[in-house]
Amino acid sequence: MLNRAKFLFATLSLVLWLDAGTSLAQQPPQQTSKHEQAQQKSQDPWWKHAVIYEIYPRSFQDSNGDGVGDINGITSRLDYIHDLGIDAIWISPMYPSPLIDFGYDISDYTAIDPLYGTLADFDHLVSEAKKRNIRVIMDFVPNHTSDQHPWFKESRSSRSNPKRDWYIWRDGNAMGQPPNNWQSWFGHSAWKLDPTTNQYYYHHFYTEQPDLNWRNPQVRKAMYDAMRFWLKRGVAGFRIDAVSRLFEDPNLHDDPILPGKNAYGDPNIAHKYTDNLPEVHEVLREMRKVVNAYPGNPVMISEADEPNIAELAKMYGAKNDEVQLPMDFQIADVNKLSAPDFRRLLNEIDRNAVGGQPHYFFSNHDQPRQWDRYGDGVHNDQIAKLMAALLLATRATPLMYYGEELGMRTTEPARKEDVQDPIGKIGWPEEKGRDGERTPMQWDASTNAGFSASQRPWLPVPPSASIYNVVAEAQDPKSILAFYKRLLALRRNEPALRDGRYLPLNQEDTNVLSFLRKEPGRGEAILVVLNMSAEPRTIKFDLSAHGVKGGSANPLLAAPEIGAESTQLNHFSVPAFGVFIGSVD
Ligand code: GLC
Repeated sequence: MLNRAKFLFATLSLVLWLDAGTSLAQQPPQQTSKHEQAQQKSQDPWWKHAVIYEIYPRSFQDSNGDGVGDINGITSRLDYIHDLGIDAIWISPMYPSPLIDFGYDISDYTAIDPLYGTLADFDHLVSEAKKRNIRVIMDFVPNHTSDQHPWFKESRSSRSNPKRDWYIWRDGNAMGQPPNNWQSWFGHSAWKLDPTTNQYYYHHFYTEQPDLNWRNPQVRKAMYDAMRFWLKRGVAGFRIDAVSRLFEDPNLHDDPILPGKNAYGDPNIAHKYTDNLPEVHEVLREMRKVVNAYPGNPVMISEADEPNIAELAKMYGAKNDEVQLPMDFQIADVNKLSAPDFRRLLNEIDRNAVGGQPHYFFSNHDQPRQWDRYGDGVHNDQIAKLMAALLLATRATPLMYYGEELGMRTTEPARKEDVQDPIGKIGWPEEKGRDGERTPMQWDASTNAGFSASQRPWLPVPPSASIYNVVAEAQDPKSILAFYKRLLALRRNEPALRDGRYLPLNQEDTNVLSFLRKEPGRGEAILVVLNMSAEPRTIKFDLSAHGVKGGSANPLLAAPEIGAESTQLNHFSVPAFGVFIGSVD
């Protein structure tokens, strides 16, 4: 869930998703390699080998010149996504919505908002994606609907309406104030008085996003039916929004007050009674059964900014029967280049008790981009490559955010009147909202960076688009994009890098994060060295304990680039923020 700088967290037969490797006729030559052969042998579900790419649909590609991205725009860019080396796209919500929270306020769970196109456009996208071996993952928002959803309109109409109990309604307290001190993540009280029935409804997010009552079995059925609707159309799974917020304490205990005030001027509180209640896990197990009933191993990805790795690991379920890929906000939000911090978190999640698959990311539509959070203002291009290697060379299912492969940066609105995201309006100037990380994709150096033919796209194109764009970077072998492509291809083609075990090395080193990726059995091994400091470092490796006898590593990919000569393990030099990936034996 919104964790902004820690403040905040066709029918079935038509589209039968095949496990990767079973549709070789559709594979481009680049993919019929060691990788595919290994995958054919493997019984692993596809999501264990996939690289997932988040698309914020408003900002990816506008096909009709209205200034807002759309489904046909995404379809027109599938070749780019394929050539980059992506296996699945997660698209932020495109359901009908009043767009108070830009689609996370849904007024119909089984339709497409005309702003983005039609259901036919969606089906076309899924089938074109499938031709390129790209799966489509839907965003699913179970915690709340829009206040314009017919369910809520009914619910608010009278205290005796059959849908009254689909939402959380309570009387105010004796002094005529909200039922308790619970606060919205988007500022101020989480309760809104509705004059029609003179009761308050609960909204964890905006007032226009009333929370559903997940203790009501009819709500559960309606939501599971919505999931089935999309699974039948061939989606490969769901990214489930705000899962940890599904339940609230029925006794309405006040949340504990903490020192200080937040960006909205409210007292800080611990969301003890509205977050991570144990019943969440029961719902996740039910959702998993829903997706498991469909072929092709559909995946569930959870959004929840768990406070530590132990809590995060609970999302897998005690019997690995909940979420396959819980997004790791701990790693996303280290927010400094610290080898010890990353090492500790990587070690911890890699060894989780149920053997759940780690799921790493750095940027998304709620977080300032990694360029700004990890860049030092001097070496940002090099650090962008370092972050790419940290994401794509560790053992995990990696999740990228559109444009990170270009070095897109956070571009916040300069004036309050330019802000689109309501939290930026409520919290200005301390909280400028999320517009900065949602700017249009930078395709080329033309007007509006090739994103839209409109005079005025919904958000302005950042000035950096003149240099950091797909066309320019595709022509420069040293660009961030070129590095991502080579790294993604390497990951695809080297089973050790894609599936091998993660073996941390030199664990006392405070500057350089190093690890081996090693296949079981014959045991091909790849050494990854990431210098997280601004100085060149010389280090030593003794890999004998891992069965590596040779004294040198043969470079596969490095940034800055180095020659093809092998590097001695007992005197290993790595430049400032340097990346080295090489084979050892
Ligand atoms: C999630 C979404 C975020 C949205 C919120 C409320 O955190 O990622 O964009 O505002 O849920 O739906």
